[in-house]
Amino acid sequence: PSQIKLAVIPGDGIGPEVVTEALKVLTATSVDVSTTEFPFGASYYLKTGTILEDSDIDELAQHDAILLGAVGGDPRDPRLTGGIIERGLLLKLRFALDHHVNLRPTTIFSGVTSPLAEPGAVDFVVVREGTEGPYVGNGGRIRTGTAHEIATEVSINTAFGVERVVRFAFAHAMGRERKKVTLVHKTNVLTHAGGLWQSTVDRVATEFPEVAVDYLHVDAATIFMVTQPSTFDVIVTDNLFGDILTDLAAAISGGIGLAASGNLNPSGEFPSMFEPVHGSAPDIAGKQLADPTAAILSIALLLSQFGETDAAARVNAAVEADLSTRGATARSTAEIGSAIADAVAQN
Ligand code: NAD
Ligand code: IPM
Ligand code: MN
Repeated sequence: PSQIKLAVIPGDGIGPEVVTEALKVLTATSVDVSTTEFPFGASYYLKTGTILEDSDIDELAQHDAILLGAVGGDPRDPRLTGGIIERGLLLKLRFALDHHVNLRPTTIFSGVTSPLAEPGAVDFVVVREGTEGPYVGNGGRIRTGTAHEIATEVSINTAFGVERVVRFAFAHAMGRERKKVTLVHKTNVLTHAGGLWQSTVDRVATEFPEVAVDYLHVDAATIFMVTQPSTFDVIVTDNLFGDILTDLAAAISGGIGLAASGNLNPSGEFPSMFEPVHGSAPDIAGKQLADPTAAILSIALLLSQFGETDAAARVNAAVEADLSTRGATARSTAEIGSAIADAVAQN
């Protein structure tokens, strides 16, 4: 589109704080974008009783893309138990807008201190399935509250759903230098789902002879992500393993405040949604302590998706420059955002 129509959901906690900075940076790129803000989140729900109506989804779907800060309220609030916001808002959007690829890149930028002593050159991307797995809500509780209670959470893995995300991972690897795909699963125990994932990877791999293929059980993957993170290129995995691995990936690359993501609908039938990997961080909310870098890097992902490669590169470069000069002096969320936005505007 000549103008990108962006829906913005700042959300809760640090969400609005980091989104403000991300939009500063977006404005600084001078890319033609119009924004419409939506109030959804835990606080909106507590005020109005509404989480997300079908008509809200229709309205969001009229946009070219969505920027989301973070959602989730006070964990001790009994009105918010059971993941009502996470499921009713975030997952509902990912499912309704068919965000089957959750793209989560990990790089250790120069100047950033990893908690690992010698991480090496880390540059990998997790292609996390976004619409299936144990996230679908298939299950239930019977004999609730009794000593005989049974709770099930059945993971759904369809040939269609697995194949499309695996195919995406291979195609994505073709655009990278090392061209390597690692399937991460737990095929030694989760033999039904694991079998489908493995056979899908084996079949799709024959169409991509240039791509090197590897497999790791998820437990071992956590070892290697800490001991040899530079060996990963593209990791393809299911919704839950991908969730866990990407918080670990964020931690080894210098912190959750740096981890960006795109919930992609690659066909473009629905708008993709860009968001930091982190949540609403109630422990630091409202204090200007949040690092807005993850939200800003999510803007770069958004720009690349719209072919704005130059603007995306300028954002990435400004972030890298800012990271390389981060010293001992703590800066506020707004100070970091403004510094990066200024650097983008000057390039
Ligand atoms: P979290 O990511 O919000 O916080 C984990 C830790 O990381 C906290 O100590 C927090 O202060 C820190 N942190 C997070 N983002 C940071 C940033 N930008 N800068 C500096 N420090 C940062 O995870 P949580 O505590 O497990 O979840 C809090 C709430 O957020 C829950 O309601 C959860 O469901 C929700 N959540 C939402 C999303 C989302 O909207 N996409 C993602 C994850 C969690
Ligand atoms: C994430 C979050 C979400 C997820 C939650 C809040 C539903 O942890 O985006 O990583 O598990 O996908
Ligand atoms: Mn997560």
